[in-house]
Amino acid sequence: MRAVAVSAFRAVPEAVEVPDPVAEPGRVLVKVAAAGLNPVDWLIADGMLDGVAPHVFPLVMGADFAGTATAVGDGVTRFAVGDEIFGQVGGAAIGKGSYASYVSVSEGAPVARAPKSVPLADAAALPVAGMTAAQILEAAAVREGESLLVIGAGGGVGTYLTQLAAARDVRVLAAVRGEARQRMGALGAAVTVDTTAQDLAAAVRDEYPDGVDALVDLVSRTKEDFAANAALVHDGGVALTSLHQEDPARAPQGVEVIGFEMAPSGELLATLAQAVDAGQLKIDIEARVPLEQAPAAIAKSRSGGARGKTLIIP
Ligand SMILES: NC(=O)c1ccc[n+]([C@@H]2O[C@H](COP(=O)([O-])OP(=O)(O)OC[C@H]3O[C@@H](n4cnc5c(N)ncnc54)[C@H](OP(=O)(O)O)[C@@H]3O)[C@@H](O)[C@H]2O)c1
Repeated sequence: MRAVAVSAFRAVPEAVEVPDPVAEPGRVLVKVAAAGLNPVDWLIADGMLDGVAPHVFPLVMGADFAGTATAVGDGVTRFAVGDEIFGQVGGAAIGKGSYASYVSVSEGAPVARAPKSVPLADAAALPVAGMTAAQILEAAAVREGESLLVIGAGGGVGTYLTQLAAARDVRVLAAVRGEARQRMGALGAAVTVDTTAQDLAAAVRDEYPDGVDALVDLVSRTKEDFAANAALVHDGGVALTSLHQEDPARAPQGVEVIGFEMAPSGELLATLAQAVDAGQLKIDIEARVPLEQAPAAIAKSRSGGARGKTLIIP
């Protein structure tokens, strides 16, 4: 089958031929309708988990998928042939990912039945970003009427987080880069700040002179940048980063700091699918890219400019 893989850590991703997976005991063989692209896919291909988990090469990239079960291995009870499912490819070894025509998924992996109200492929845009957004909202514990500054609101996690927060009547200030304000407004943002055209701190202070109740920073790669953004939170508020698991130093006194890590689950995916079917969560797709062109889409994700989610179609 065709798949997009790297031959070694940090190698350039390529469309290659790899053996078809089979439905081993406890696993479901899925014909992939689409894989969802996440920054973590190329971070893993760069060696982010080297020494943490075993890897197989050529390393087929990708975690998020949606597709149809075409075979089930011995002992599988949760799913049957023909089921339309979506989720994250789990497994002990990394490298048998979703950027492929078929994927083998453990029935214990974070997988659920796909939402029925959208094309099956679109569900591949939900798992990592949707679960991250839902769990960030719980972790930051923002309540109705409170203010939430989301930096990086235009990307995968940010577009879901904006919607989920707005649905709780949280007032979302969406910080984006160089994009249409109407788009974030349609997703529920109360205020959109284009950080390429406006000073973020000044724009936030205009709205909230004492600071916002909560910050979700999806972009700061250094503790210094995160600390500067956390200074926009008032005393007693919360500042969360999706990029540092360790306690990010130098956040202002009186601000609770959270280094967030997503914990995937099939139950949470089922909840997200319900939210989609109830019309409460839109899947905001920027691009649908044929598998052979996935290397260019990966390069684009690396260089920035995400506006919603990118799907890879085998
Ligand atoms: N800890 C966890 O468990 C976890 C889980 C999921 C994701 N993450 C991480 O969270 C981050 C976000 O993920 P994602 O899937 O949403 O990524 P994404 O789809 O690439 O979105 C990132 C967005 O942030 C925007 N951005 C970058 N700098 C900005 C700035 N200064 N002001 C405003 N917007 C800015 C980007 O726009 P431009 O490119 O135009 O700047 C892009 O729209 C990634 O680093 C990812 O690895 C962590």
